[in-house]
Amino acid sequence: MRILIAFTSLSGNTRDVARMVRARCEARGHEVTWIETDIQKLAQVSPDPNHDLYLLGSWSDNAGRTPSEMKHFIADLVEAVGKPERLAVFGTGETQWGEEYYCGAVRRMAAFFETRFPRLEIEQMPHGDRDAHKIQRWTDHILNCTENMPHADPARFVA
Ligand SMILES: Cc1cc2nc3c(=O)[nH]c(=O)nc-3n(C[C@H](O)[C@H](O)[C@H](O)COP(=O)(O)O)c2cc1C
Repeated sequence: MRILIAFTSLSGNTRDVARMVRARCEARGHEVTWIETDIQKLAQVSPDPNHDLYLLGSWSDNAGRTPSEMKHFIADLVEAVGKPERLAVFGTGETQWGEEYYCGAVRRMAAFFETRFPRLEIEQMPHGDRDAHKIQRWTDHILNCTENMPHADPARFVA
């Protein structure tokens, strides 16, 4: 599959998670388009915005808000391909900001896209085997689901 991983990261925590997700996707033989929304735009990185799966990652800003760079990316994505059915969301946050705001951006993005997939939420930076396994299990789950899902355009698989 062609997979688009797009993320925003201020201090590197979400980038670390994104790297681990990417490594798993590539280890399973998938092609990854990689977008750091803080410095890159969709149109610059990928002439064809259509992908088989979209994985969006974000840290959470004040009161669980979505950082503006990710909001801009989402606007570009929706304009280019609509709200994809095969989209999952991951991110990092800190419980010290309050349980109701913890990873708020991840929840907001998942709600916006009405994704059917589980969210991946990591506290601060991923560390240890526990987080590594959690990230790998989440990535495998999303890949297993999408690899077996009939595509919206079945003709893609006929050729
Ligand atoms: C100004 C500011 C506001 C934050 N607000 C929240 C919040 O509401 N909820 C949350 O879970 N984390 C909050 N955080 C914590 C970050 O989301 C968390 O440290 C995250 O792992 C940073 O990811 P990054 O290293 O990819 O930038 C806030 C951090 C900053 C700097």
